[in-house]
Amino acid sequence: MRTHYCGELRSTHGHQEVTLCGWVDRSRDHGGVIFIDLRDRTGTVQVTVAPEGSAQVFHQAEQLRNETVLRISGHVRLRPEESVNPKLPTGTVEVVATDLTVLNSIQGALPFAVSVHDEEPVREELRLRHRYLDLRRQRMQRNLALRHQVMQTARRFLDEQGFLEVETPMLTRSTPEGARDYLVPSRVCGGEWFALPQSPQLFKQLLMVGGVERYYQLARCFRDEDLRADRQPEFTQLDLEMSFLSQEQILAINEHLVAHIWKTALGVQLPIPFPRLGWSEAMARYGTDCPDTRYGLELTDVSDLVADLSFKVFSQAVARGGVVKCLAIPHGNERLSNVRIKPGGDVFAEATTAGARGLAYIRVRDRGVLDTIGAIKDSLGPEQARALLERCGAEPGTLLLFGAGDAATVNKALDRVRQFLARELQLIPANTWNFVWVVDFPLLAWNKDDQRLEALHHPFCAPHPADVHNLAQARAQAYDLVLNGLEVAGGSLRIHSATLQQQVLEAMGFSADEARRQFGFLMDALAMGAPPHGGIAYGVDRLVMLLAGEESIRDTIAFPKTQQARCPLTAAPGSVDPDQLKELHVASTWVDPDST
Ligand code: AMO
Repeated sequence: MRTHYCGELRSTHGHQEVTLCGWVDRSRDHGGVIFIDLRDRTGTVQVTVAPEGSAQVFHQAEQLRNETVLRISGHVRLRPEESVNPKLPTGTVEVVATDLTVLNSIQGALPFAVSVHDEEPVREELRLRHRYLDLRRQRMQRNLALRHQVMQTARRFLDEQGFLEVETPMLTRSTPEGARDYLVPSRVCGGEWFALPQSPQLFKQLLMVGGVERYYQLARCFRDEDLRADRQPEFTQLDLEMSFLSQEQILAINEHLVAHIWKTALGVQLPIPFPRLGWSEAMARYGTDCPDTRYGLELTDVSDLVADLSFKVFSQAVARGGVVKCLAIPHGNERLSNVRIKPGGDVFAEATTAGARGLAYIRVRDRGVLDTIGAIKDSLGPEQARALLERCGAEPGTLLLFGAGDAATVNKALDRVRQFLARELQLIPANTWNFVWVVDFPLLAWNKDDQRLEALHHPFCAPHPADVHNLAQARAQAYDLVLNGLEVAGGSLRIHSATLQQQVLEAMGFSADEARRQFGFLMDALAMGAPPHGGIAYGVDRLVMLLAGEESIRDTIAFPKTQQARCPLTAAPGSVDPDQLKELHVASTWVDPDST
């Protein structure tokens, strides 16, 4: 069909006869000469059709609509100096068409323009409904190519490091990763269900028991959870597992892998090793286990300094076992008005959206004079005020924002305010890649709703050897890789003793029978020579999103779902034939809320 790609033509192709295939990006009639920008995956090139040539070719060219599929033959002509287009890689040449075949024409109106020249914001629903058109656009072409490059780079790197790519089942048992399962009814085994994997966690551990030693997979995972810009119901993990390696060795392999991806995809040399931050320290300094370390605005715990104040919001929070933490904003006095930090203001709203009851503040004026609501001022003696400012590193001009209450709520609220203000005050440096390993997570956390301990990552993480005697308080040998405030990967060393696995499940409130019923196959395997092992999984969609500078992982996935977990292109999910349900031994209890 074609001899060359549109985007590859250069001056060196001058005078050659070429045949190109692609889409009409746009065409224009300039005083009798028709210019067609012909586009394929590699880019666009200008095609010229002059009336002196074949009348039939000229007639066809006159009729062309954007996105018509064409094959064009002609010869490559060097453009005269004055008509070179320096913005286009093919800008020094044009193809003078001698033959033109319409391979497919356009019927009806296009829902949106494809060409970068006509690019305008398009509603995402519309983009997804006609994703095939959206994929032709430069942005999505670039993102798909980047995704491919990341996946190929990872494959090559891991292959060289002796990893085997092994596929694990899609139709399986539920793996507890904390989300709801997508279930598949079994026709053959009536009344029984498969779950689609939330991750290949258990199978990759079984592969280690199976002597594979180094495994990886680009694995599709399914989680029925509330969706956000960085979450999809089906997404892709780069999933790794290794035997006989320490945590440090696992982190080092991963640092090299990530550095290699960044070098290949962006030409950026990342400094390794990445910094490590203990979970407790991350929570104390940033209020989150995914800290964005590209800017300061760290939190300071001032609970001890305000425990005795007559200002009840502070003292009662501490008396009830909670905390008072401060977010100091240098030059905040000039940059943030009272209107924004008081009820009704945008900064205040960020705090309350995250669950805070309010947002107390102190403005540090010249010579340490404080400006605040009377109740705080009245209760702060000069000595206490001095200690507070010193603890928070507050200079004149600084605005201090306070959260008071239970530690989880205070952290959540101040983390949200911190991120909001960093964006608002433009404190985030461009083109900065701040990786950090967050390590030493708690093994278990208290679930208030269920009134029981649950695994913070998943129930297979190994406790720290020093902490095995008190599993409720133990640290896990677990690590998350955080990039610019987003969790891009998470992993751990695993429990490889059946007895310890049983104990951890018991600590989470599993009865021996229940543990056996759900995880008996794992514990049997652990008891038959499981090597010490550990691993990690990256969210590929998130990695590509960050590399591409996109704000949503939907822009890195060829056919993503909407926020409502729907596919507007195929109209999935949809209803099925009642006979199909019958065959699967399933009856629906769904009642349309509009019909009642
Ligand atoms: P975890 O649950 O932390 O760990 O997942 C690993 C990484 O997968 C990405 N991720 C998602 N990406 C898009 N949409 C989602 N809904 C979604 N959920 C998670 C994140 C996350 O860091 N089996 C363990 C890994 C291990 O222990 O080896 C696991 O799945 O980037």
